[in-house]
Amino acid sequence: METILIPVDKTLDNKKKYKQAVDILTSGGVVAFPTETVYGLGALATDEQAVQKIFEAKGRPSDNPLIVHIGNKEDVSNYATGITEDAEKLMTAYWPGPLTLVFDKIPGVIASNVTPGVETVGIRMPDHPVALELLRALAGPLAAPSANRSGKPSPTEAAHVYEDLKGLIPFILDGGQTGIGVESTVLDMTTSPPTILRPGGTTQEMIEAIIGPVRAGSKSPGEQAPRSPGMKYMHYAPEAPLFVISPDTTTIREAVETLHREGKRVAIIGPDDLDVLAADWYFAVGPRNNNDAMASHLYRALRQCDLTEADIILAVETDLTGVGAAVMNRLIKAADGKRYID
Ligand code: TXA
Ligand code: MG
Repeated sequence: METILIPVDKTLDNKKKYKQAVDILTSGGVVAFPTETVYGLGALATDEQAVQKIFEAKGRPSDNPLIVHIGNKEDVSNYATGITEDAEKLMTAYWPGPLTLVFDKIPGVIASNVTPGVETVGIRMPDHPVALELLRALAGPLAAPSANRSGKPSPTEAAHVYEDLKGLIPFILDGGQTGIGVESTVLDMTTSPPTILRPGGTTQEMIEAIIGPVRAGSKSPGEQAPRSPGMKYMHYAPEAPLFVISPDTTTIREAVETLHREGKRVAIIGPDDLDVLAADWYFAVGPRNNNDAMASHLYRALRQCDLTEADIILAVETDLTGVGAAVMNRLIKAADGKRYID
């Protein structure tokens, strides 16, 4: 299959491009598109066969539910029940935006393979002009996971999608780099209080400012049963083994020396100002303690590590404030829980 990559530019008339994307979607195909978090791989959420193509292209386990993307807040009641007052408040405050809300599903509307094995459905309204224009032109719901091969870091540029899915999907709308860089927060509204199943672009602080205390999922994966089915799989992993390491310069320098003595080449992902000239590769992800910048650059850095000959990757940890919770959640998963301790 030929994969067409089409730039969509705000200043140009893009009607034809959206029409092409909509034609593919309504005839049962898949299309990759940018959101404010990461690129998604979309199929019409009511078309079971089209949704099946998402799982095939990604190589995704078929028991992991997909998020349904909508273009209008009001559409949520077409697919979900039990929309609480708290949920209404969150939608008013943060939709469109990086917040996926999990509700009880209305049976028989969304294709069953979008929500395999669960009675719930995760819904969000993305905050990106291209995603919103596509949803408006389609006038239907889009089931869309991140547009990477399963297990790889999520794509924050159209080129990442092309790298992973070239030959496997027909069409990519290229809207440039995504902004936030980590995925949406998944908040389960069926528990009381609501539970954060996946930390993401909408922080716990932001949620609690609107509805009061919520339950946060375990900070270390593996500690609790995977309520979000995706939690049990390997994620975001570059090819070389990755270890999370403390931000202390001496610790990092000694780690590099030790690894070099063992004949290993080292790539480091860390803040702009880190002074580790000895590392074989260094990928800077923004000013120290700037968790927004780190979120925005993390997946690109993980992919860049795959272009090196590093035997080991050290990723410098950050604090858990704001989107830092999401960054550390992804890093710990990419590391499969490993920490570098010399
Ligand atoms: O930012 C995002 O959320 C991106 C963009 C494309 O919208 N999408 C995304 O989708 O990250 P995906 O499929 O890569 O991750 C969806 C996560 C998975 O961990 C899945 O298990 C969880 O959301 N999820 C989806 N529906 C759920 C449900 N009904 N109950 C519990 N977890 C659900
Ligand atoms: Mg994903």
